Amino acid sequence: SPAPLIDAFARRITYLRLSVIDRCDLRCTYCMPEQQTFLPKAEVLSLEELHRLALGFIARGVTKLRLTGGEPLVRRDMIELVQALGRKLGADDGHGHLDELTLTTNGTRLAQFAGDLRDAGVRRVNVSLDTLDRATFARIARRDQLASVLEGIAAAKDAGLKVKLNTVALKGVNEDEIADLIAWAHGQGHEITLIEVMPLGEVEEDRYDHYLPLTQVRERLEQRWTMQPDTHRSGGPARYWQVAETGGRLGLITPLTSNFCDGCNRVRVTATGQLFACLGGREQVDLRAALRSEDPDGALRAALDTAMAIKPARHHFQIDRPGAAPHLARHMSMTGG
Ligand code: GTP
Ligand code: 5AD
Ligand code: SF4
Repeated sequence: SPAPLIDAFARRITYLRLSVIDRCDLRCTYCMPEQQTFLPKAEVLSLEELHRLALGFIARGVTKLRLTGGEPLVRRDMIELVQALGRKLGADDGHGHLDELTLTTNGTRLAQFAGDLRDAGVRRVNVSLDTLDRATFARIARRDQLASVLEGIAAAKDAGLKVKLNTVALKGVNEDEIADLIAWAHGQGHEITLIEVMPLGEVEEDRYDHYLPLTQVRERLEQRWTMQPDTHRSGGPARYWQVAETGGRLGLITPLTSNFCDGCNRVRVTATGQLFACLGGREQVDLRAALRSEDPDGALRAALDTAMAIKPARHHFQIDRPGAAPHLARHMSMTGG
């Protein structure tokens, strides 16, 4: 069988983050500008191309597949794609298999699709939720959609999906609400992960004004609660704590205050088939060209070998002074994080 994906730093790549669309029905201020220009639909990979691409990775040892966006549930044939990929869950058929098929969603359409996702084999979803306050939500997401997100989260739980909430920590925006949000999540039986804002793409606000180091947040939480480090690993970048008082698990994603790149196990692919070897780098391989060549399988294998050779050791994100240009021109919505 074809060789596993191992990069120049001996890191084994088993986790693919595949963006299925760059569009989103929200406009989170830290993620994209209000007037974001989206890709022409013709540039986005077809359902068949996304499927074939994913199978190519699975044949090389990827066992965890996360569908991202933009907002993945905005794509019309998203459920069909999940159903097709769901067939790779479970036993290896000689061309690899998936242990986990999942997605990261903003939740606005989750009420509609939670049952279909569960039926297709999804067991766990990550839902972005930065606040429980309607006005704060409308300020961050620039759309008054908190109610549909909460409905989506409830529907996911009812459908038997595990929910992990993602909260970007924002100074002066949701800062004073973080402990309450964690307590609420744990009370509902959800995991929650806090994320440091990352400097990807030009937005209206200076991310410096709202960057909140999670070292600070953790100190404050430890004044209120007993937090024990938890050895649990999800396969993503979070490090976990167990909160004694709530009985729940808290994840921290700290690209700025505590680098986690030495354990990197992932690459991401945009909806146009551009592989980015690192979220924080420009190193890129055109998988769409490979897919559309005369020998798609061979060209894809070669392209993945190239990706392993160019994957950098780590990102160099920094948010240390006002007015700085973002580290990278592309937005998070291109790579889905
Ligand atoms: P789990 O499977 O639950 O661990 O999910 P995950 O954390 O891998 O995925 P999710 O889509 O929920 O991402 C949470 C945050 O982690 C997002 O802000 C991503 O951009 C960020 N993230 C994921 N992978 C990387 C990475 O390789 N580097 C950095 N710097 N951030 C990442
Ligand atoms: N920095 C950190 N997290 C971000 N997200 C979107 N843009 C950024 C950014 N610039 C988060 C979303 C979602 C996850 C996929 O990434 O809130 O939870
Ligand atoms: Fe949409 Fe997610 Fe970006 Fe918010 S963070 S605008 S929900 S892609």
